Amino acid sequence: MDTIRIETSGGSYPVHIGKGIRSKWRELIDNYASYSSFFIITDEAVEGHYLSSILGKEKLAYFVVPSGEESKSFEQYHKCMTALLEADLDRKSCIISLGGGVVGDLAGFAAATYMRGIDFIQMPTTLLAHDSSVGGKTGINHELGKNLIGAFHQPVAVIYDIECLRTLPEREWRSGFSEVIKHALIHDETFLNWLLDRRKAIRNYTDDELQFMIKEGINVKGAIVKEDERETGVRSYLNFGHTLGHAIEAELGYGKMTHGEAVAIGMIYALRMSEEYFQTKLRMDDLRSWFQELGLPVAVPRELNRRKLLQRMKKDKKAENKSLQFVLLKKIGTPIKVSIDDETALKLLEVSVERSV
Ligand SMILES: NC(=O)c1ccc[n+]([C@@H]2O[C@H](COP(=O)([O-])OP(=O)(O)OC[C@H]3O[C@@H](n4cnc5c(N)ncnc54)[C@H](O)[C@@H]3O)[C@@H](O)[C@H]2O)c1
Repeated sequence: MDTIRIETSGGSYPVHIGKGIRSKWRELIDNYASYSSFFIITDEAVEGHYLSSILGKEKLAYFVVPSGEESKSFEQYHKCMTALLEADLDRKSCIISLGGGVVGDLAGFAAATYMRGIDFIQMPTTLLAHDSSVGGKTGINHELGKNLIGAFHQPVAVIYDIECLRTLPEREWRSGFSEVIKHALIHDETFLNWLLDRRKAIRNYTDDELQFMIKEGINVKGAIVKEDERETGVRSYLNFGHTLGHAIEAELGYGKMTHGEAVAIGMIYALRMSEEYFQTKLRMDDLRSWFQELGLPVAVPRELNRRKLLQRMKKDKKAENKSLQFVLLKKIGTPIKVSIDDETALKLLEVSVERSV
């Protein structure tokens, strides 16, 4: 088992990564005895696979939401809150989020707001959740945009059992891998080369390789969050590929494309923009063919209206004064935030649509 410590002003906590560690969660929580009760929030798919191994012989209360992005909604949030109240959770109770980024964001937001905030533990079960389970961003979607309602609330521990990844559907592997690549691109060329030296279908990575890449990804995220928990500066670099990615997700309708797939398109777009902006070469062609080998999309779906995407990008909560902000790469591992005019962004969208690739 590897343990990484995440340091933030909102709390310092361990991230345990290992095989088969989920059933040992009680031993892995330092202050286990200090909690009055535990309450698990999970989704339908994860319930079937893993809930019983977390419950063990204990009769813990739990709440199950439907699988998928639609559960990051006011409706499910309200139902969660009702379940917590009906289970008589008090301020010494602790919520366990068992699932991917959707459950993590929803359960984290429930923990952030229940009785003005109680503790929670992240037990990620997707590859993508190596990103979402660390850093304390929690929240739900509004029909006007993704993740617009939320809170910063750090977990007290992250328990990442890589064994859970083996039941992930193919698309979810890809989706998570896209965020692994993002962490390498924005922070660490050595890690990127490590990944590129092992080009293969994601499912074929060994447990040791998986554990290594998750650890590296979390190290990148941890370092950035330590410096800038509230996203006033360097944390925005984690949004590399997300300005367009979020717009695509919203414009297609949530759940049509996975988060990582949309981010993959956004990263290729941002790489192209970086090459033009800095008049440099960033191995964009090589990276794009690698994405294609992995089965990740690299082009904007043809049916999406480019002007609407532009408007969405301007509404992104990271936009400043409604001007477009993009995280670009000066070189691999060196991100920088820049303002881009509408015309340039639109022109690049036109060359990024499906037919042009
Ligand atoms: N808070 C953050 O910092 C942050 C960062 C990145 C992404 N996110 C959010 O994360 C969400 C995406 O997360 P995700 O990709 O993990 O999606 P997800 O939670 O919807 O999981 C993907 C699918 O896999 C299923 N699943 C989960 N674990 C499984 C397992 N072990 N075996 C079989 N099926 C399993 C789920 O039921 C779901 O259908 C988005 O809402 C995104 O906004 C948050």
